[in-house]
Amino acid sequence: MRDMTVRLSRNDVIGETNERLFGAFIEHLGRCIYGGIFEPSHPTATDKGFRGDVLQLVRELAPTIMRYPGGNFVSGYNWEDGVGPLEKRPRRMELAWLSTEPNTFGTNEFIDWCRAAGIEPMLAVNLGTRGPDEARRLMEYCNHPSGTELSDLRRSHGWEEPHGIRLWCLGNEVDGPWQMGSKTATEYGRVAAEAAKLMRLIDPAIELVAVGSSGRNMPTFGHWEREVLRHTFDLVGFVSLHTYLNDYAHDTPAFLASPDLMDGFIEEVIQIADAVAAELKSDRRIMLSFDEWNVWYRTRRGEGRTREGWPVAPPILEEIYSMKDALAFGGACISLLNHADRVKAACLAQLVNAIAPIMTETGGPAWRQTIFFPFADFSNLGRGTVLKCDIDSPVYSTTYFDPRGATDLRFPIPEVPYLKVAAVHSAAAGAITLFLLNRNLEEGASVEITANGFPALSLERATTLHHADLDATNTKDDQERVRPAPLPTVSVSDRITAHLPPASWNVIRLAVG
Ligand code: AHR
Repeated sequence: MRDMTVRLSRNDVIGETNERLFGAFIEHLGRCIYGGIFEPSHPTATDKGFRGDVLQLVRELAPTIMRYPGGNFVSGYNWEDGVGPLEKRPRRMELAWLSTEPNTFGTNEFIDWCRAAGIEPMLAVNLGTRGPDEARRLMEYCNHPSGTELSDLRRSHGWEEPHGIRLWCLGNEVDGPWQMGSKTATEYGRVAAEAAKLMRLIDPAIELVAVGSSGRNMPTFGHWEREVLRHTFDLVGFVSLHTYLNDYAHDTPAFLASPDLMDGFIEEVIQIADAVAAELKSDRRIMLSFDEWNVWYRTRRGEGRTREGWPVAPPILEEIYSMKDALAFGGACISLLNHADRVKAACLAQLVNAIAPIMTETGGPAWRQTIFFPFADFSNLGRGTVLKCDIDSPVYSTTYFDPRGATDLRFPIPEVPYLKVAAVHSAAAGAITLFLLNRNLEEGASVEITANGFPALSLERATTLHHADLDATNTKDDQERVRPAPLPTVSVSDRITAHLPPASWNVIRLAVG
């Protein structure tokens, strides 16, 4: 393959990454909470019942915000069920995932877990089966200091200080017919606006996320965002986006091209939000919260919602990620970085066991899935100023299959560069990090990078995630089959050259002299 070039310049900037770009998500779904982050009988459990081995991996993964309690779950959730004395908490039929919810973990335990992990909480309210009144009551319970029924109830439960939760989601995927209490855009826009109004009266410091389309392929996409934002524009700071990349078609080149559809989705939502701003004669800019993104297909169709006997924490959606999945996932990280000017929050869905970078055995060990590594790179090294990259790379064309929506869709993806890149300059760390995805399955890539305005660069570290078998996975018995290795082919002088293996995710960290 011919040589590829990347040119970047210190002053040619996309934007600053927000800390919240590197978030994740935990839902009452399968073994994400129970047997995932929370397992009081586990040998590593803390005094609060949190799995210590999972906390250790979470610190290595370094998510910055955590969305909770759903997802589909939140649209049928009574937050009151999950607070107060354990013996009084009800067991409920949970209709999103057809399980029994024991409610031994709830809002206060979530806050304690976030504090233990050093993560900012992001709480979702139920605007499916419930509405503004419950949202206002939850806000009073969580964020009001004392002297009222619900704030004093929290104190009587053992949490003297208010939780001070800043970031809130106004429901989840309300546009989806599968959602409990799904709504039209007008119905949701009105309910979201009223909930936002009441919540902000209690705590004006909160930041709110309005529900956007649950996928770019939804038949209501576009109309939904416009109508919802017309109702909520002055009350919210964010609109949400969700995407799960898939390889149903067993077409690896198309799968690896599919993160570029996230770029298109983001750019379309920005245009719609800014068009509403123009209609309203406002110069306010609504930011984007990409609060569900991941690769998910093996356990998505069929398996997800069929089970008998209403089990507690059944092992569902336990997607085993391969090398190929880590590459598509890395492409999504690059798409998010390259829109750091408007995507100011994002959540990898999810964190443990259910479509997750961390797997556990209940009572047993915890280990890293393949997608763990690109996320850890993205979060630990991706903070700073994202620079524009001018890329010269051969391209390919493909068609991507997307099953959600009224009909199965095929998105043509013309002219995808084999090389997908993001570059982040951290003035604080005195470093530039280059994230490079080589999507060519057969050939390595010789890349030459010119970094204008950075006269004295030196190599700090370079790693590659590559495996000859694109189906290779990490399992309980072979936990490190796929893991990053040093990338030895990098040289740094007045320009940087590197040879990237075929089908690889690469990270080059350069010290700025
Ligand atoms: O993350 C799994 C599910 O995907 C979430 O509960 C829902 O919001 C989405 O459809």
